[in-house]
Amino acid sequence: MNIKTEVRPADAEGIARAAELLRRGELVALPTETVYGIAADARNGEAVSKIFVAKGRPQDNPLIVHVTGPEMLHGLVSEVPERAQLLMAAFCPGPLTIIMPRGPEVAAECCAGLDTVGIRMPSHPVARAVIEASGCAFAAPSANLSGKPSPTNAQDVFTDMDGRLPLILDGGECDWGVESTVVSVVGEKPTLFRPGHITLEDLERALGEEVEVSKAILEKLPEGAVVRSPGMKYKHYAPKADVTLLDGTFEQFKAYVDAHAAERPSCLCFTGEAEKLGVPCVEYGREGDGADQARHIFRSLRALDEQGDAVVYARCPQKDGLSMAVYNRLIRAARDIPLADADQLSREILLPGSPLLPQLAERFGADIIRADGTLDRRLLADRAFATPEGKAALDALTHPEIVRRIRAAKQAAHRAGAKLFVLDGAVIVGTAAEAECDKLCVVTAPFEVSVERIAARDGISPEMAARRLNAQMPEAALTARADYILPNTSTREALAKAANELCDTLIGEGCRT
Ligand code: TXA
Ligand code: MG
Repeated sequence: MNIKTEVRPADAEGIARAAELLRRGELVALPTETVYGIAADARNGEAVSKIFVAKGRPQDNPLIVHVTGPEMLHGLVSEVPERAQLLMAAFCPGPLTIIMPRGPEVAAECCAGLDTVGIRMPSHPVARAVIEASGCAFAAPSANLSGKPSPTNAQDVFTDMDGRLPLILDGGECDWGVESTVVSVVGEKPTLFRPGHITLEDLERALGEEVEVSKAILEKLPEGAVVRSPGMKYKHYAPKADVTLLDGTFEQFKAYVDAHAAERPSCLCFTGEAEKLGVPCVEYGREGDGADQARHIFRSLRALDEQGDAVVYARCPQKDGLSMAVYNRLIRAARDIPLADADQLSREILLPGSPLLPQLAERFGADIIRADGTLDRRLLADRAFATPEGKAALDALTHPEIVRRIRAAKQAAHRAGAKLFVLDGAVIVGTAAEAECDKLCVVTAPFEVSVERIAARDGISPEMAARRLNAQMPEAALTARADYILPNTSTREALAKAANELCDTLIGEGCRT
């Protein structure tokens, strides 16, 4: 493919040029109120096929057909169900796609073999003007390369589509920033397939009945799963970085990021938090404000890629209302397997205000708590590790709470549909937390290699690193208890590959933790 791509302002001339291209069976990228789309005449199969080539999109993922209003539906749908009429009256034109029974005039290429078609009536003046000027109902997916975040401005479209289509109309930033809500009215019950600016609650109010939420919305799907809306099964919005979504308060988030400073992470955080985190950040909207987050989320995911970040920790939005749409996009950008870090948990349970602190002070001396309420860990360690009784007393105080938090995280992950939960930390071996695990995997490396790695990672001397390693349970004792051993002797990538394969095996065996 090497077409010359022109970017034009979406003025009268640009719209006329777009209409001419559409009528000739060519592609045009244009703004809608949600995201930019790649339009082709929905009645022209050959034109629609070009969309799949330009995007690198799987053929079995159907396209949405865009019209200006109900008067254009004749021939595109075979019937307008009553529920569709209620929804159109309430929300159209606007960011809603309604799945209806397919009519004879829609090109087969739009529908991926389904007998239904998604219909949307955009409110954006440019999208509407192009439909009016061309007389074409247009099929349009988001204007990104398949697998990349949807574009919300013409520059991002150009980055993905340069050389792949003849015209991009520049109509500025999109208003809403996430794709339309997709709802089906063909089944027995109305079903939400993709959350968007029009929320579940909005739909239920307009229909006067409960709307089912397709399960795939709030969880990722296993490879090869059969789904009713094909777009759900593809890996979407995948930035190059390894993104981990962390649920919790800002303080918990910051503590986690601080504890993982050695990974040189970046953060995807809420507005105003970047300066407090002290690592490279991309902000994606105000906390608790789903509309603001929606407007920024895709540009922010692209910004992470542009910065070349490798490890990203992301703040988790709420999961309901407008934020459901943002959460749904973020879980598709994030790593599949939820993970708890035992070291991190053991620090978290002793933050200022914890009811455990007074109990520790009583046992090990009031001076282990500093004037500002924080715990002097070194002093505590000196006293607790001085005798076996001290160590046992410390464990007896802290372990129940750590185990309680591991269980809560595990249950939350399983409720959210996770197939596997990983607990990281050599410290759990030989403690009550070990019983929380179905399988134990030990990552091994020659002693000198580990010393070198720890010294480089934490910026400490090799002697200090060796002392730390010696304080842990010896590797031989760990491997003796292990169900799996992963040697960490070559590259990080090789270890990651082996770890991913192990996770696949465990999921295949029905292992849960
Ligand atoms: O906001 C939007 O909807 C944007 C703008 C350009 O209008 N378009 C868009 O299209 O997001 P696309 O192709 O990226 O996403 C369409 C989604 C996919 O998840 C697809 O599987 C689903 O809608 N879909 C389309 N037709 C369907 C059908 N007949 N049944 C079930 N799901 C359908
Ligand atoms: Mg898309």
